Amino acid sequence: MNIVLTGFMGTGKSTIGKILAQKSAMSFCDIDAIIEKEKGMTIREIFEKFGEPIFRQIEAETIEKISKLDNIIISCGGGAVLNQKNIENLRRNGKIINLYAEPETIYSRVKGDLSRPVLKGSNPSIEDIKALLENRSKFYANCDIRIDTSKITPQEAADKIKVKARG
Ligand code: S3P
Repeated sequence: MNIVLTGFMGTGKSTIGKILAQKSAMSFCDIDAIIEKEKGMTIREIFEKFGEPIFRQIEAETIEKISKLDNIIISCGGGAVLNQKNIENLRRNGKIINLYAEPETIYSRVKGDLSRPVLKGSNPSIEDIKALLENRSKFYANCDIRIDTSKITPQEAADKIKVKARG
């Protein structure tokens, strides 16, 4: 059984996923990192060169492949949940964890970061983040376990997931 981390950008998926993998003696797979490695380009370059629809197609193919593995922690990009096919593939052998954070917390974590094309460059406003979070809320709600990471450390979040995913 895999543990799948979903959630908006800046909710801690990669950081928490790596800690959780260590604590659980499981391997860690970051879907965006795999895409970057396989394509030899950053996510931002893929968006710029090919556009978002092609990125989403590559993302879906990568998720389909990785979700066939077992006993791994899978960290997905923030938009992966928008495609129901991704959720179906991930759920087949995985518990879906949604990491949540307050828009203000997300803002403080992602501001100045140029690597996230859907946030329109490095300077999104809290309003941009709130609007996108709201648009996506029903997709993020489609999960087995939800953890708010706003006021806890990545270590604490990993411990919570470990306990809850067992049940
Ligand atoms: C995206 C989130 C990013 C990455 C891409 C699109 C999104 O991943 O997949 O830039 O649509 O929310 P992170 O959530 O790891 O930043």
